[in-house]
Amino acid sequence: MTTTTGTEPRIVLITGSSRGIGAETARVLAGRGDHVVVNYREKRKRAETLAAEIADAGGSASVAGADIADPESARALVENVVAEFGRLDVLVLNASGGLERDAAPDYAMLLNRDAQTGLAALALPHLPAGGRIVFVTSHQAHFSPTRQAPPGYEQIAASKRAGEDALRAMTGEFADRGIGFTVVSGDMIDGTIIVRLLERRDPDAVTERRDQGDLPTVEEFATAVADATTLDAPLGHTVYVGGQDFLSEPTTPAASHG
Ligand SMILES: NC(=O)c1ccc[n+]([C@@H]2O[C@H](COP(=O)([O-])OP(=O)(O)OC[C@H]3O[C@@H](n4cnc5c(N)ncnc54)[C@H](OP(=O)(O)O)[C@@H]3O)[C@@H](O)[C@H]2O)c1
Repeated sequence: MTTTTGTEPRIVLITGSSRGIGAETARVLAGRGDHVVVNYREKRKRAETLAAEIADAGGSASVAGADIADPESARALVENVVAEFGRLDVLVLNASGGLERDAAPDYAMLLNRDAQTGLAALALPHLPAGGRIVFVTSHQAHFSPTRQAPPGYEQIAASKRAGEDALRAMTGEFADRGIGFTVVSGDMIDGTIIVRLLERRDPDAVTERRDQGDLPTVEEFATAVADATTLDAPLGHTVYVGGQDFLSEPTTPAASHG
């Protein structure tokens, strides 16, 4: 089994990091000295622009196109990272979706559950002892068994929660290999495309969240995701960002890991 030496920059693969929270996480981790692999599905130019911005700021980044919902594409993504850099130290499972206009009915489960466990399984043989998997989710998904998700978001919430549960079911394998696993769950994040879309479609759902206090920013949430890659915490620990009202309500058994 390989181990981290601490002398080389960590190789961090962030799924869906061409924009939004994933892109900001890439900026934060590159600023801390990691080499970040910016995975995108379609927006190659946007990913390349981000990698160039990181390099201009003195950091190290590369881009890797892959549709993680396609098992062959996901396999090639992990294999190519390992072939190019010789290893993979951290996997940040950030990419998410299912609200796309032309999405097939089973696409949300394919992407938010099956692709997440598939990537974790593909990465597992390469991650060194001390390596880390971080799963990024929303309070609307994490708490969906006990709290109603916003209208139109129910299917995404259920699929992301199913992804979290399926990853938690793999913690025995993570433990066997000495790999950390952390979940980062956030309230609606201000300024993101998802919240802007939701605000247009169902303004009350967003107003209801704002009434609870300021929504976390992309920078705050991305910093929590970046911190989770080094956090000294028990396997399966959940980091919560924003939405204090969610935390004061009864939680599910999985959430009690936090
Ligand atoms: N936005 C919020 O308010 C909020 C709140 C809490 C938690 N989160 C969580 O934070 C994470 C990121 O959210 P976000 O708002 O930044 O998302 P976003 O703006 O919708 O960005 C999604 C990213 O995922 C990529 N992607 C989508 N489908 C993919 C696929 N099949 N294969 C590879 N990449 C794919 C996209 O790449 P392309 O652009 O190249 O297609 C894009 O880079 C998600 O896990 C989300 O649940 C978000």
